Amino acid sequence: MNLRDDIAQILLTEEQIATRVKELGQQISRDYEGKDLILVGILKGAAIFLADLVRAIEIPVAYDFVAISSYGADSRSAGVVRIIKDLDESLVSKHVLVVEDIVDTGWTLRLSYLLENLRSRKAASVRVCTLLDKPSRREMGVKIDYTGFLVEDKYVVGYGLDYAGEYRSLPFIGVLKPEVYGGG
Ligand code: IMP
Ligand code: MG
Repeated sequence: MNLRDDIAQILLTEEQIATRVKELGQQISRDYEGKDLILVGILKGAAIFLADLVRAIEIPVAYDFVAISSYGADSRSAGVVRIIKDLDESLVSKHVLVVEDIVDTGWTLRLSYLLENLRSRKAASVRVCTLLDKPSRREMGVKIDYTGFLVEDKYVVGYGLDYAGEYRSLPFIGVLKPEVYGGG
């Protein structure tokens, strides 16, 4: 079985992603020059983006990960999105850049209170960098400081993004064939 056979369309090629990640790395390097910078990736989706992004950053940079419980319809209305894996180190006086794979409705970042939580640890600043932004789907306002690409309202996989735990390892970002997720 070849993973690529399940892809209907490639939205962003490896080359397009690599070029944009380089640009983001250069911009972040300029903006954080002379500052104590730590990237905080949200597992698991942001792991691949973060791995490429840190290598495109030309100033000293640390990184760590958090994991946030995913929400179903119930947890969402109850407002229970929890941090299920926390950082290992102190953030005091550090400049934190949260790295996310995609901001869709905005519920994950808002309901987890992740940004508020990180700020309360006396970080010098807390900002957000997302590889993908689907603004047409937004239900909760989220301030994003760095965006890789805007994408239309399609479910995408690859480069860390999954469908039912699969397809994260694809090196590009694509749209699944409808039959893969039981569509028409
Ligand atoms: P939000 O809470 O709706 O903003 O969704 C954010 C999270 O949902 C992301 O971190 C992803 O894990 C997941 N997600 C949203 N849209 C997609 C998609 O198109 N493909 C894969 N995962 C997605
Ligand atoms: Mg995610």
